[in-house]
Amino acid sequence: MFSKKKEKIQIDPLQRELYEHARKRVNQKKGLFRHFIVFLVGSVFFVILNLLFGFGKHITFFGADWYIVAILIWVFLLLIHLANVWLFHSFMGREWTDRQMERLIAKQKAEIELIQKDVELMYPKTDLMKKKEEFIQSKKEEELKLPKKITMIAAAAENNALGKENDLVWHLPDDFKRFKQLTSGHYIIMGRKTFESFPKLLPNRTHVVITRNQDYKAGGAIVVDSIDKALQAASPDKSPFIIGGGEIYTMGLDYADYIELTRVHGEFEADTFFPEIDLSKWELVKEEFHDTDEMHKYPFTYLTYKKRT
Ligand SMILES: NC(=O)c1ccc[n+]([C@@H]2O[C@H](COP(=O)([O-])OP(=O)(O)OC[C@H]3O[C@@H](n4cnc5c(N)ncnc54)[C@H](OP(=O)(O)O)[C@@H]3O)[C@@H](O)[C@H]2O)c1
Repeated sequence: MFSKKKEKIQIDPLQRELYEHARKRVNQKKGLFRHFIVFLVGSVFFVILNLLFGFGKHITFFGADWYIVAILIWVFLLLIHLANVWLFHSFMGREWTDRQMERLIAKQKAEIELIQKDVELMYPKTDLMKKKEEFIQSKKEEELKLPKKITMIAAAAENNALGKENDLVWHLPDDFKRFKQLTSGHYIIMGRKTFESFPKLLPNRTHVVITRNQDYKAGGAIVVDSIDKALQAASPDKSPFIIGGGEIYTMGLDYADYIELTRVHGEFEADTFFPEIDLSKWELVKEEFHDTDEMHKYPFTYLTYKKRT
């Protein structure tokens, strides 16, 4: 509930003075305007009375009709009023208000300086800078700590076969489509041999190639000499993919958070194999079966594993 107790508002005396003067000035001007209107209406009234009814014709002062004298005296009073407002009270005009404003500003500046000195006493500048740097550093560290989702993506047969003579041993168009869909727009990390198994760069993906060869040139791809460096290179991506082959998958198990494995139902002769998935370390969180059809000679299942924490 609101308290009905009136709060005592502290008004700066200087501001109050400024306001009071402004109010008086407005009233003065209003008074002068009223005087002028009454004078105008009164004079016209007297003139009409005189012309229509001969009012005041027989009473004269120093040879003039009395009402003319009255009007002249009134003019004189109006002029005195005018002079009083515009000449004698000119100190309340523009110059005066400007001076008041300057005094006010100077006062506020002095108060700000005092507050600044207080702040500097409490928090010396060097401490403030230090605190600022610490804050920026902690923010950076927080960003680095953000959970990054690293996924290994592979297609392996029941006997873990991956490929033979640097090529795949099956053709599963839907699995290719899924691979493209999941990895598009991301960094893809691969071993030199897998990279060389591609006829060209995969579109809309950033390739990171791991090799021990310091002079290795892979046009359009980032070349590194370890999986750590590959992941560092992929740091702009919150969810990079490790896409093979066998040697890199084996190392990748320690780094990955997820495995998207297409388990091809069959056994194949191969020279490269996917590492065994230890179910005490990995939890199967999703599976989706795909049967054979005219485009797919072998049945397969999409399996999603999540690393246990
Ligand atoms: N089925 C699938 O999902 C799938 C996916 C990808 C690939 N594959 C298949 O897998 C086969 C290729 O796999 P792979 O195991 O033979 O080769 P790979 O893993 O693609 O590449 C191996 C190469 O990576 C580099 N490398 C490995 N360990 C390294 C380390 N610790 N530090 C620096 N560089 C390192 C070496 O390059 P240097 O020799 O240049 O030093 C090594 O020869 C192909 O048959 C391919 O078709 C299958």
